Amino acid sequence: MNLLKRLVLPLFAVILFSSGISSRNVAYYQVIPLPQEIVQTEQTAFTLNKKTRIVYTPGNEMLKKNAEFLAEYIQSAVGLKLKVQAGNGNAHSIILSTGLDKQNKEAYTITVSKEEGVKINGASEAGTFYGVQTIRKSLPEHACASVLFPAVTINDQPRFGYRGMMLDVCRHFMTVDEVKRFIDMMVLHNQNIFHWHLTEDQGWRIEIKKYPRLTEIGSMRKETVVGHKNESFDGIPHIGFYTQKQILDVLDYAKQRYITIIPEIDMPGHMVAAMTAYPYLGCTGGPYEVRTSWGVAKDVLCIGKESTFEFIEDVLTEVLELFPSQFIHIGGDEAPRDRWAACPQCQARIKAEGLEAKDGHSAEDRLQSYFTTRVEKFLNAHGRRLIGWGEILEGGLAPDATVMSWKGVTAGIKAAQQNHDVVMSPNSHAYFDRYQTKDTENEPDAFGGFVPVDVVYSFEPLAKELTAEQHKHILGVQANVWTEYIPNFKQVEYMSLPRMAAISEVMWTNPERKNYQKFLTRLPRLIDIYEALDYKYATHIFDVPTKAPAKK
Ligand code: ACM
Ligand code: ZN
Repeated sequence: MNLLKRLVLPLFAVILFSSGISSRNVAYYQVIPLPQEIVQTEQTAFTLNKKTRIVYTPGNEMLKKNAEFLAEYIQSAVGLKLKVQAGNGNAHSIILSTGLDKQNKEAYTITVSKEEGVKINGASEAGTFYGVQTIRKSLPEHACASVLFPAVTINDQPRFGYRGMMLDVCRHFMTVDEVKRFIDMMVLHNQNIFHWHLTEDQGWRIEIKKYPRLTEIGSMRKETVVGHKNESFDGIPHIGFYTQKQILDVLDYAKQRYITIIPEIDMPGHMVAAMTAYPYLGCTGGPYEVRTSWGVAKDVLCIGKESTFEFIEDVLTEVLELFPSQFIHIGGDEAPRDRWAACPQCQARIKAEGLEAKDGHSAEDRLQSYFTTRVEKFLNAHGRRLIGWGEILEGGLAPDATVMSWKGVTAGIKAAQQNHDVVMSPNSHAYFDRYQTKDTENEPDAFGGFVPVDVVYSFEPLAKELTAEQHKHILGVQANVWTEYIPNFKQVEYMSLPRMAAISEVMWTNPERKNYQKFLTRLPRLIDIYEALDYKYATHIFDVPTKAPAKK
């Protein structure tokens, strides 16, 4: 950190020395993610001070909220409390509007000059919001009476429309306030999809009114495995779920910040907590126990029984009432075939549906595909789209399914070649539960692997194997925070930051603008915001070549 500051700050000083302005009080537009175009103009710089007003188009409540966010950001960064008001503004204003004529509704422009003030013009309120984020990240992070904004024109829009983060709240439960903090972290990195992984073998975390035992029984495991060896357990019950009222509150919080929440109900695998509550859901009938250790469970939903589909449709009915997202994530990963192979009802289903082995797929592979296709029909009938992990390709993709490619990009490539939409989320680049350093001795326990910041940054989602037409199916990118080895939210922060910064440029910035070395020089200003917000972040990239333990 300090090393980088030592490298970067003299650069500012040289540039600004001749004007006699302290580099410390100047807005710096080279933020993360880097805007697509930043053009310095000949006009005079704008000075932000206590007289500056933030104005928004009268009657536009969302713009008003954006203006209030900006006022909060400015106050927290430099200590100036600016007035927010409806109106047209003048040369002393920061003016928020939505008049930009662009197809990409997340696009915005910023123009800055002494004569006309600061104008943030979005192609929608979301676009204006991202302009606000750019201004926010341009600010110095220390008290000052005025900030000089060099005259500039910024033209910006995201490269990808899907810019997601997944949080697993099942292996370790995160409170509503912590989930909101995660959403705030996403805001800071211009991300717009929160994939909320709500159900697992180790805990069911969403209230379903028709099935109260899901949370009465399924939201608690009696203890948790310690370390990687499955030898010792902590003896401490782990409990937690969200009421529907709390979920609505989080949805509202996310919406105000232009973040869509995609809920995941993982099926037909990762269902042991639900099966503990309702043993008839499994092939053997149980009894089952909410799992206390990690890894893939052999017990999965029975696809032979109609009662399983009734349960899934009932659960999804309540999920759809809560979550307005176009996509509903049905998981689909890691469903072993053992129980289906031995279950008379599953075998009867295979026979009745004519699901014999073919094209390298077993009958049981095709049974999962039958399941996913039925669930997809249900979602489509309710105006929604199904998204699932790469395994939903096995046995044949459901007709309109979108694939989230996690075992590398192979599933994503295959799906795009079949003209299906794809979100790239490879464990090689986008799994933030992996180690960030090879010096694992001095690290908190993690899942394994090695996904450092530079590897995250290097990810290119548009695979070379695909044609330009097929590239249109790559909706975007998602990073995942699985929490088997992340026992609390501070550790979520540590595993996510600054890797979220790196992935934000993969998601937002066009590849010709990306440059890892320059990214490193831009990072200290973002780190200043992490510090101000008390985010715990990993420092490995700053500590090279010396090693240091995690900060805080
Ligand atoms: C996954 O990591 N099991 C999707
Ligand atoms: Zn069965």
